Amino acid sequence: MKQDMIVILDLGSTENTTIARRIREMGVYTEIHPHDISPDELRKLENVKGIILNGGENRIVDGTPVDISPALYECGYPMMSIDHPTAKCEKRLDTIPADDVLQGFVFDVCHAQANWNMKNFIEDQVEQIRRQVGDRKVLLALSGGVDSSVVAAMLIRAIGNQLTCVHVNHGLMRKHESESVIEVFQNQLHANLIYVDATERFLGKLEGVSDPEQKRKIIGSEFIRVFEEEARKLEGIDFLGQGTIYPDIIESGTKTAKMVKSHHNVGGLPEDLKFELVEPLKQLFKDEVRDCGIELGLPTSMVYRQPFPGPGLGVRCLGAITRDRLTAVRESDAILREEFAKAGLDKKVWQYFTVVPDFKSVGVKNNARCFEYMVIIRAINTVDAMSASIERIDWDVLQKITDRILAEVENVNRVCYDMSPKPPATIEFE
Ligand code: XMP
Repeated sequence: MKQDMIVILDLGSTENTTIARRIREMGVYTEIHPHDISPDELRKLENVKGIILNGGENRIVDGTPVDISPALYECGYPMMSIDHPTAKCEKRLDTIPADDVLQGFVFDVCHAQANWNMKNFIEDQVEQIRRQVGDRKVLLALSGGVDSSVVAAMLIRAIGNQLTCVHVNHGLMRKHESESVIEVFQNQLHANLIYVDATERFLGKLEGVSDPEQKRKIIGSEFIRVFEEEARKLEGIDFLGQGTIYPDIIESGTKTAKMVKSHHNVGGLPEDLKFELVEPLKQLFKDEVRDCGIELGLPTSMVYRQPFPGPGLGVRCLGAITRDRLTAVRESDAILREEFAKAGLDKKVWQYFTVVPDFKSVGVKNNARCFEYMVIIRAINTVDAMSASIERIDWDVLQKITDRILAEVENVNRVCYDMSPKPPATIEFE
């Protein structure tokens, strides 16, 4: 471990990540651990320079008052308490500390070095992955999303051809998305990449299915089945790479005594396919994952890609999916993204996409009545995707996008703009 570390012990505060982030921003690595960590577990963490006991207003977890094991006070680490503290800590505070107070603790009391950066982090992870994996093999489901792409790049750096990536194209990807996964990982990074075009299989299973939950379930379980079939064809794989990131772990709760080990993107694999997990991003916040991807040489377009739901365009081709409407969603989405990029909105707007409902409206084209689909544009801003507001798009940009969709996308005679915030509307339509 090349970085010094400050450990934050979660004693029921809601501010753990805020404090963890602020210390990382000072260039010092932090990890949040549960309040009941044992002295032995703590000693196993490398380069710990100090501990913050973070209790917030009270030290209550799940309605029960908590404290750390008394033996931790004897471990000899400098400690700071943020709550109604015990007398045993060197520093006590009852509000979220100002930056100079945190800096005083981290640098003057703990003598931590500001040596947390992506280069060191990657070197550390590469070393750890090599130690964990040895000369064995790792399998990774590479969707092309930010997290799985960064994990792939990290694993390629660490173990090269001992990694096999499987990219399942479920036929619900955006335009050119699978192609760019192949271009970057196979052609540029020379990864072992198995590309599975499962379009027909997915569309077959989805035929006539209009219930959104049912659609999601089919896409999810079919994905696991395809991945499983590929995994069974390979021999001697012991590990599964996972794009678990820090918020996944924190959401699983340090607060409930034990950290949950992992979030499974490919959960649900059958029992006899037993893998050990490799999760090199599990200590990173989302923006740090992006920095890591850039440092590993991934293209910015891949690293700064907007969020895209697992079921892909399947939940944007509303109701029972048909090929003509799926094409309309894909083509209109491509136009929207192109025009947003030209207008600089791709860097400003959190998420933007098109949907195509499963009903038609009357129009006129070439002096004749037509009965065709509509495209709805949605562009929203949010911090955490729990609530969202709509982007007020410049009228001319909206007009240009509308004109292009009407001229270039088949089977469409109408374009609408969704004005609804979340709540009551969700970001996606299904
Ligand atoms: P909603 O529609 O619930 O979406 O307001 C919130 C955010 O989550 C994304 N989303 C998903 N992401 N798998 C994902 O990885 C999914 O199944 C999924 N469904 C929705 C959505 O795009 C938005 O950013």
